[in-house]
Amino acid sequence: MAEQDVPTLTDSDVAGLVVGVLGGTGDQGRGLARRLAAAGNPVIIGSRSAQRAVAAAAGLGGEPGIRGMANADAARAADVVIVAVPWEGHRELLAALAGPLAGKVVIDCVNPLGFDQRGAYPLPVPEGSAAEQAAAVLPDSVVVGAFHHVSAVLLLDPEVAAIDLDVVVLGDDRQATDLVQALAARIPGMRGVYAGRLRNCRQVEALTANLVSINRRYKAHAGLRITDI
Ligand SMILES: NC(=O)c1ccc[n+]([C@@H]2O[C@H](COP(=O)([O-])OP(=O)(O)OC[C@H]3O[C@@H](n4cnc5c(N)ncnc54)[C@H](OP(=O)(O)O)[C@@H]3O)[C@@H](O)[C@H]2O)c1
Repeated sequence: MAEQDVPTLTDSDVAGLVVGVLGGTGDQGRGLARRLAAAGNPVIIGSRSAQRAVAAAAGLGGEPGIRGMANADAARAADVVIVAVPWEGHRELLAALAGPLAGKVVIDCVNPLGFDQRGAYPLPVPEGSAAEQAAAVLPDSVVVGAFHHVSAVLLLDPEVAAIDLDVVVLGDDRQATDLVQALAARIPGMRGVYAGRLRNCRQVEALTANLVSINRRYKAHAGLRITDI
């Protein structure tokens, strides 16, 4: 790894960050919340309903340090915010939260996919990708794409101690991508790997359709490993 590519942030820089998760009542949000809380980060599950958020947090009762709030309150209270809502609600939710998310690093893991009888396929996105759409509607936030290929099933499985994959991290702000790489590395088995600017997020999101096909054929929860770094 070239010196300028080595993440400049260490684990201790991100260990105390409060992580908010929009749509944190779903499988992906609860899974990431559970793993990051287990790593020691305070986590806030967000929802369109504060009641559902509190219930989801209680449902992860094995992990202390998880609270539940309405999405807007979670966005306000968190240092870093993960977006884990379905593609269909992505633009509308983020546009409504532009104020509370201003000045924050927003991590987008949303995969715009369609499903038909032939399996999963990427949907066209006018902005190029979900992450670029987030950046367009959140002009005062720093958007980073990451966690697209992490299986919620593995994240939520108490029998799985370590999640064996690289998390590709994309963004236009190197300090923010370093931060997200360091955050990903807090989850045992994961490594955060810088993978380019936000304009290259489209194929990362679309690649999830290939992973869905792999998972169906091999009855697996496949992830990526990047070699030679
Ligand atoms: N599942 C995976 O393995 C996986 C892996 C990688 C990436 N992802 C990405 O992560 C995101 C979430 O996946 P998921 O499987 O957890 O989805 P999900 O369970 O369908 O949705 C997550 C949460 O989003 C909220 N939500 C639903 N519709 C919404 C809307 N129209 N507007 C705002 N909020 C809405 C709901 O929470 P409330 O009703 O409580 O608000 C729901 O619990 C997706 O974009 C997916 O592409 C998923």
